[in-house]
Amino acid sequence: RSVLVLNGPNLGRLGSRQPEVYGSADLADLAEALVGWAPEGWTSEVRQTDDESELIAWLHEAVDTRRPVILNPAAFTHYSYAVRDAAVLVTEAGLPLVEVHISNPHARESFRQHSTISAVATGVVAGFGFDSYRLALAAITG
Ligand code: DQA
Repeated sequence: RSVLVLNGPNLGRLGSRQPEVYGSADLADLAEALVGWAPEGWTSEVRQTDDESELIAWLHEAVDTRRPVILNPAAFTHYSYAVRDAAVLVTEAGLPLVEVHISNPHARESFRQHSTISAVATGVVAGFGFDSYRLALAAITG
């Protein structure tokens, strides 16, 4: 089985983007780490986009191909009702959707303390660096 690991805006800059907040590893390092974390019989596909419509199309694809989702919506977390509505389609299809964040948004600026996604996600993992994705994968693959 395959998990879609979807990342929103500016996460393509991981490695050089605010390393004091997000660490110095990049998205390719994340994809490599996920290979090692996947239990027998599971694979994951890591994608990143700065484009809200592309992210929404990928959530629709998750529904159509019946794939569980690990979603780091990045800044869309805080204001996108369109991504939220697409996330609902995933969970209503009976597929898990785990919201992840590398940092702990609750410990940061006030605008990061609201998520449009959390209330419709299966669960949320935040604040553990790339381990947030490892924990989300463990939750999905159980
Ligand atoms: C983030 C937290 C968001 O507030 C921020 O906009 C991001 C990354 C994280 O992974 O910690 O781009 O989702």
